[in-house]
Amino acid sequence: MEMIEVSHFRKMFGKKVIHDDVNFDVKKGECLGLLGGSGAGKSVILRSLIGLERPDSGKIQIDGTDVTQLDESDLIEIRKRVAYVFQNGALFDSMTVYDNIAYPLCEHTNLSKHEIRDRVLSTLQMFNLQGAESLLPAELSGGMQKRVGLARAIIMKPDVILYDEPTAGLDPANTVKIQNLIVQLKSTGVTSILVTHDLDTAIRVCDRLAFLEDGHVENLGAVADLKKDPVQILQLFVRGQGD
Ligand SMILES: Nc1ncnc2c1ncn2[C@@H]1O[C@H](COP(=O)(O)OP(=O)(O)OP(=O)(O)O)[C@@H](O)[C@H]1O
Ligand SMILES: [Mg+2]
Repeated sequence: MEMIEVSHFRKMFGKKVIHDDVNFDVKKGECLGLLGGSGAGKSVILRSLIGLERPDSGKIQIDGTDVTQLDESDLIEIRKRVAYVFQNGALFDSMTVYDNIAYPLCEHTNLSKHEIRDRVLSTLQMFNLQGAESLLPAELSGGMQKRVGLARAIIMKPDVILYDEPTAGLDPANTVKIQNLIVQLKSTGVTSILVTHDLDTAIRVCDRLAFLEDGHVENLGAVADLKKDPVQILQLFVRGQGD
């Protein structure tokens, strides 16, 4: 059963064709790793999945709904189910960690203050952020900022999570923490796309890999199969460095 189906997606900026004919899908519960050089258009694909960008042509179906045809109010409904973990964190600078994480619940649910508090505190615990609730984003390390961004994304219990470079710029210890969180979230049945330059992370957490290049997405197959083929892994590693 497909959760995400992208077909004949085409996107230009001005006269520049970024995506020519992109086709891929993601099954329910699957984690797809989307690799590709800098500027290949990975973030534009993720943004398009929640209607922050409109394709010039093509279809993007999420659980059977073509999001390219939705108006702003329907897109708000889709964004409750599809969480986007922004590449740059996109935390609200003037809000505490607590308020950043509570924000989607305050905006989009009728939960009581007490229920929101319970949900935020248990999420803080899951992300190992206890004690950080009253800090501002500027007072956090890069790794903590990434975890707060992730916590805010999952607080609505989304069906789909789109991760944009969740481990970029992190040291090995923080990278492993984020990998473990993604694996933990995957075990709850969410469907996800992980955009990354970090092949190690992709191999650790994804079920299947795909490569975006020259406006097309190439399916690279199951990670379990790739793992049996060190030469192909090495080639991928080299290809990923080529930007
Ligand atoms: N709003 C925009 N207006 C014009 N050009 C844009 C816009 N957004 C993205 N682009 C261009 O589209 C291309 C793809 O951008 P995108 O951010 O998706 O790349 P990416 O694969 O995510 O790269 P990176 O790995 O560096 O994050 C780039 O050439 C970028 O300059
Ligand atoms: Mg990007």
